[in-house]
Amino acid sequence: MFHVFQELAEFEKLADQVMNTAEGLRRDGFEEPHPLFRCLVAEAEDEKKREEGPRLVGYALSHYIYSTWKGRSLYLEDLYVMPQYRGKGIGSKLLTATAELCLSLGCPRLQLSVLDWNQPAISFYQSCGGRNMSDEEGWRMIRFLPDDLRRMISKSAERPGDPGLA
Ligand SMILES: CC(C)(COP(=O)(O)OP(=O)(O)OC[C@H]1O[C@@H](n2cnc3c(N)ncnc32)[C@H](O)[C@@H]1OP(=O)(O)O)[C@@H](O)C(=O)NCCC(=O)NCCS
Repeated sequence: MFHVFQELAEFEKLADQVMNTAEGLRRDGFEEPHPLFRCLVAEAEDEKKREEGPRLVGYALSHYIYSTWKGRSLYLEDLYVMPQYRGKGIGSKLLTATAELCLSLGCPRLQLSVLDWNQPAISFYQSCGGRNMSDEEGWRMIRFLPDDLRRMISKSAERPGDPGLA
């Protein structure tokens, strides 16, 4: 299954940022007492290779986030359909199933991020009723990578008299 995660990273031109491993995914999604994500999968059977059984052609991976304003919410981390299976309604089925999961878990919000050049996906989400919050409210995504975190922490340690946290 790990190969489809890599396919999406390659599609997004960010394959060099993949740090996770198949083992990490197995542990976090299937072995933790409280799995860190849920993954809905779409499978299809190849007419010519029936004996091989259905194969994975798309997936939607989501996990909880928490909003102080809305409470528990769901974040759609990945939605991916293999190129030859696109335009057949699989993506909208995966998104609808995620919407059902979201409401069944008591989450009033489904959130996701999409790259600004990925206009097909932006159009897809908008055709499904999703709102573009960058346009509507001006949100921007901020991220700290491990080096940024370490730099911040060591800078703070150098500052004398910082207020303590409880
Ligand atoms: C985005 C993606 C998941 C859509 O999946 P899909 O199976 O091709 O989409 P569907 O066939 O279910 O299409 C659903 C609806 O969206 C519309 N849609 C799909 N792709 C579209 C596009 N490129 N532009 C505009 N509308 C689009 C379809 O017309 C359809 O509308 P309809 O129901 O009125 O006919 C798929 O194209 C994909 O995996 N893309 C590459 C990865 C990606 O960008 N993922 C999102 C990262 S945030």
